[in-house]
Amino acid sequence: MDYTNLGRTGLRVGVAGLGCGGSSRLGLGVGGDMAGAVDLVRRAIDLGVNFLDTANSYGTEEVLGRVLAEIPRDSVVISTKFSAHKGKRLIPAAEVVAGLHESLRIMGCDCIDLFQLHGVSINSYDHAVGELWPALMLERDKGNVRHIGITETAPMDHEQVMLGRALDDDCWDVMMLAINLMNHNACADLLPRAVENNVGALAMFAVRSLFSSPDRLRAGMVKLADDGKIDRELAMGDGPLDFLIHEGGAQSVIDAAYRFVRHQPGIDVVLFGTGNPDHLAGNIASILAPPLPAEDVRKLRGLFGHLKGVGLDFPTTYAPTV
Ligand SMILES: NC(=O)c1ccc[n+]([C@@H]2O[C@H](COP(=O)([O-])OP(=O)(O)OC[C@H]3O[C@@H](n4cnc5c(N)ncnc54)[C@H](OP(=O)(O)O)[C@@H]3O)[C@@H](O)[C@H]2O)c1
Repeated sequence: MDYTNLGRTGLRVGVAGLGCGGSSRLGLGVGGDMAGAVDLVRRAIDLGVNFLDTANSYGTEEVLGRVLAEIPRDSVVISTKFSAHKGKRLIPAAEVVAGLHESLRIMGCDCIDLFQLHGVSINSYDHAVGELWPALMLERDKGNVRHIGITETAPMDHEQVMLGRALDDDCWDVMMLAINLMNHNACADLLPRAVENNVGALAMFAVRSLFSSPDRLRAGMVKLADDGKIDRELAMGDGPLDFLIHEGGAQSVIDAAYRFVRHQPGIDVVLFGTGNPDHLAGNIASILAPPLPAEDVRKLRGLFGHLKGVGLDFPTTYAPTV
């Protein structure tokens, strides 16, 4: 594993972070059981993963609690989250703080390394910064949490406006943002500003649904061509991104997807979600592999640099909170 500093937090984190959400939820979302999920987390840790990202709404904090009971607490960095809003209802600070304490209880620990407001929308941002952030700072002062971060609701905010505002305020230690092979929006402004402000950046949506299935990728390409957003020719072939797979280049579309995101300046940790032990080692190897060839990256920028919001979808196996 390669380790890096997570922005201003001073936390030393592996660049490949295990996402315990998404549709897989460590396998629990796709028919797996608790023992399999615990085993997957153990394997990830054995491979050098030390950044574990969960959330109150994922139902995987209990899995982490079981693993935490077996290992020194400071051998891993725990990130969990709680929503700032549910539908149009803004969640009061007391409820968010109660959620934090519930996470501590479920995971059996006395301090959370990184507590993030989950899927904050443009409309709930004022509430997040004005009401929730001060309450979380009090929790930090009490020692219940070490750092405070914010994550976006990517499917609802293609321009990433909320995170732009979060960077203006400069009170969040870490942000989680969407970025992938066909969605480069964060590269232009958010990531350079995150570097300048020393805000840690966690990448989500590197693979998600679009790049994890050749059928979905083909269908997605056809839709983009139908909408006039990409050349029809690109959507015609069987493997629209296969130009990335060659000697000296990527081994697969998924390999390309993780390597592209990993090497975007400003990205500290690439989150990958899986419930499949066979995917675990391969994903970590991809995240640790060298950048894609410069010519391939130029081609990706030329073909897809203008797109926004591609590859962002809600998980299919639990109700989104936004
Ligand atoms: N707003 C937020 O705060 C937010 C939003 C989204 C995500 N997240 C976090 O970010 C993490 C990562 O999210 P993500 O969007 O990048 O991905 P994800 O939702 O976790 O999904 C990755 C998908 O790709 C599949 N996959 C992974 N490796 C594969 C491989 N080698 N071959 C084939 N399929 C593969 C997984 O299925 P298998 O189980 O079959 O591998 C899964 O369906 C989440 O787990 C969560 O922790 C946070």
